[in-house]
Formats: sequence, C-alpha cells, structure tokens
Amino acid sequence: MGSEKIIEEKKQGQALVTENKEGNKKKLFIESYGCQMNLNDSEIVASILAEEGFNTTPLLEEADLVLVNTCSIREKAEQTIRKRLQKYNRVRRINPDMKIGVLGCMAERLKTKFLEEEKMVDLVVGPDAYRDLPNLVKEIESGKDAINVILSKEETYGDVTPVRLNSNGVSAFISITRGCDNMCTFCVVPFTRGRERSRDPKSILSEARDLWEKGYKEITLLGQNVDSYLWYGGGLKKDFKKASEIAQATAIDFAKLLEMVALEVPKMRIRFATSNPQDMSIDVLHSMAKYDNICKYIHLPVQTGSTRMLERMNRQHTREEYIELIDNINRIIPDCAISQDMIAGFSGETEEDHKDTLSLMEYVKYDFGFMFAYSERPGTPAAKKMEDDVPLEVKKRRLSEIINLQQKHGLYRMEQFVGKTVEILIEGDSKKSSAHWMGRNTQNAVAVFPKGDEKIGDLVMVRIDDCTSATLIGTRVS
Ligand code: SAH
Ligand code: F3S
Repeated sequence: MGSEKIIEEKKQGQALVTENKEGNKKKLFIESYGCQMNLNDSEIVASILAEEGFNTTPLLEEADLVLVNTCSIREKAEQTIRKRLQKYNRVRRINPDMKIGVLGCMAERLKTKFLEEEKMVDLVVGPDAYRDLPNLVKEIESGKDAINVILSKEETYGDVTPVRLNSNGVSAFISITRGCDNMCTFCVVPFTRGRERSRDPKSILSEARDLWEKGYKEITLLGQNVDSYLWYGGGLKKDFKKASEIAQATAIDFAKLLEMVALEVPKMRIRFATSNPQDMSIDVLHSMAKYDNICKYIHLPVQTGSTRMLERMNRQHTREEYIELIDNINRIIPDCAISQDMIAGFSGETEEDHKDTLSLMEYVKYDFGFMFAYSERPGTPAAKKMEDDVPLEVKKRRLSEIINLQQKHGLYRMEQFVGKTVEILIEGDSKKSSAHWMGRNTQNAVAVFPKGDEKIGDLVMVRIDDCTSATLIGTRVS
C-alpha cells in the first residue's frame, strides 16, 4: 500500500518532541492524529507554546499540558481519540494538576460538547484558533475551562515558523492553503477547517529557504486541495472575483507557486499533496516536467470510478475527464507515479458502480492507494440527504477487492524499477534492520539498501535488484 501512509503512521499517536528551548519550565505532551496537515499544525502549536514557557516531553506522566490534535474524517478516527482521552484521564488521577486539551477537527466538530458532556478536557481549540492558545492556556491555568472554535477568513499562520516535531532533519511540511471549498458530500473537512484561503507566497518561499539552510532536503507543500492555491493579496478563495483588477491580473496560482519554490531552493526535493482532479491544470504538469527537483509523484484521489457516484459525491468531474487527466500526466511526465484514495460503499453504490471503480484502477494501475469503507459523518450533505444504504459486509467485501487489486498494481509498478538505478534520498534506518538505510525515489517508492559510509539526508544512486509490493530492495552504486 501507500508509502505516504508510512510517514503518517510513524507519527500517529506518538509523543511529538523537539529540542528544548532554554529557560522553559513547563512540559507539553502533544500527539497528532490524521492527516499531514494536522502534524504540521501541531508543529505550529508547539512553536506558539514554546514562547509561553513550554518544552515538549515524551512522557505523559510528567506533562503539565496534554494536547491531542484530532481527526474527524471517519468514525474510527474519532473512536481512537476518545480512547486516548480516557488514557490521559487515567494518568491525571496520579497527576491532578495536568491540563488536557483537544485541538483540530474533532474540537471544531464537537465544540462545547467536549466540555459539557464529557468532562474529560479543559481546553477545546479549533484549527484556526491556535494563535489564541497563550490566552486560553492562561485561563485553564487559573482553573477555568477554555474554548475557541472560531473559523477564520484570513488565518494561514504564515508568520509562525513551525518547530519540527519528531523530525528526521531531512523532510518537512509547509502548509500553503487552509480549508476547503469543495463540499464533497461525504466529507467533514469543509465544516471543521472552514473556507479555503491561500498563504502569502513570500512566507512560503522564506520558509523553504530557511529549511534548506537548516539542512532539510525535501519539502512537501500541503493543502486539502493544493492545485486550487491562489494568492491575490490574501482573503478567501471564493472572494477572488471581488478583488481589484490588478490583484486578479497579478495573482499567483499553484503552477506558478511550484515554479517559484523550485527556483528558490533548486536542490531541494519538492513534493505536494493533495491534488484534486478538477483543479489540477496542465500548467502544473508542465511545471513538474520542467524542474528536476519537483518530484514525479501525484496523489490524485478519485474516490470512485463511476460517473454516477462521482456526481453523488459532488466531485465536479466525470470518469472520462479523470481519464483524460491521467492520459495528460502520462504524456507530459511519462515517469510520474500516481496514487489514489478510494471510498467503498458510498450511499447508493451498486455492483455496477463498484466494477467501474475496479476497471478505472485497471486503467490507471496506481502506484499506491489509500482505501476506506464509507463512514457517514454527521452534518455532511450526504448524512443529511443520502441514506447510508450499502450493508457493512458489502462495503467490506468491495473494499477488500479494491485493496487486493491495488496490491497487484503496486507490485506491478515496483517491478518496473527492478534492474534500474534510481536516486534515493536517505531518510533513516530501514524499519526491519539497522544495517540498512531506508529512503525514497522521486516517485515516492520506498527503497532499502545495505549501509555504507553514507548518512541521513544524502542523495545516492541505488540499483534495484528486487522488490515487494511496498519496498524496493537494492545496492548502492554511487
Ligand atoms: N483533500 C483532502 C482529503 C482529505 S480526506 C486531502 O488533503 O487529502 C482524505 C480521504 O479520506 C479522502 O480522499 C477520502 O478518500 C477519505 N474520506 C473522506 N471522508 C470520508 C468518509 N466519510 N468515509 C470514508 N472515507 C472518507
Ligand atoms: Fe474533503 Fe473533498 Fe475537500 S474530500 S477535503 S471536501 S476536496
């Protein structure tokens, strides 16, 4: 399955730590669940709290403040977080001064319910309110509960330099947009993260440069929908048409931003996620083809191969338009890897629709995939208007068919590298053996190879001798 998932899983629900700031006395235990954007937000939160006297700690028991950055995307994600909250509360019995706070999407979705019904937390902060943390923390320290779940039109945290948590010193995230305007009917994100807004390109470029100077070798530009990036001086994407003529004429879109970043840090590997098919332009593909340092990998969720389902999901494109985009990618960037997100068993999905998904997968032969059974989320358009009518067993069966096919395609894609020599950026030890390095090629495929005199962060040429469906196995040649 997807190697991107590995980055996520490595840091999911794990104490996130960074270097201590001298003089800071208070201890922050912070964990992050869900998407890469949440992890980057946790880095912003840790940076804001470092100014308030907090250093991170890996030990829950000694924390003055426990924060969990939460995910609402599927019901299971929320259940996992409830279990964590119970765990924190058990530890609080030993350390009664400990304060507990919920950040992120669940905070935004459940708002005061956390304080009223559950009594398990002291602090509730939505994704756009982290700048208010210094005030909110003072309130809870004085024994009150505190909450801020206001969503913003402007907030991009453009001027906050994130501290890097659990970093390998090689790869880092840079957020470029926040929120989402797409309103896919199944998705809770537009409700928890608000309307879409883009970050000032100047602050993106300076963060990229700063990371390069600190020794980082790879950045991932993050947004719910990066291809929709549009800077015209600040404000919501939906208000662009109201902006002045000059602002409209000089606006910077994602293709341009990519090019600016590629030129600003010409030796840095550049990745981005996520691309929404309806917003991905040919210009972005040309920017990718033009600059060697932009990695040849596109995460291009489609959710389903059926045009009828795409319409019910409000995805704004048909199966045929998606195929046209895939053909364009293959033509303009012939060696580009492509990955998917799929949802099995969305409301109204028939066996025919499911077959359309499998046949689309056969056409694309995705390198990686992230696949889920549909989970109805309260408050979404689908929950309001469409019955969750596919029985659980059917969802599970369709999901396993999708996963099995993805595994076959993953292996097929990996086999194409066997016998070739590829450039690998070393990220750290292989999970299975400390005698081997682990890194990725430009297509985001994970490779392992025996250690020599190289070090983390080096770019090396590796000949691929063998593979599994998830890993390339090779030998360094130069
Ligand atoms: N544009 C976002 C999408 C976030 S949600 C991004 O940056 O990736 C990630 C994936 O979760 C979606 O692509 C979809 O496949 C899945 N997902 C979202 N809502 C879901 C739901 N209600 N049930 C099951 N899967 C869902
Ligand atoms: Fe969700 Fe669709 Fe936006 S999946 S994050 S509403 S692009």
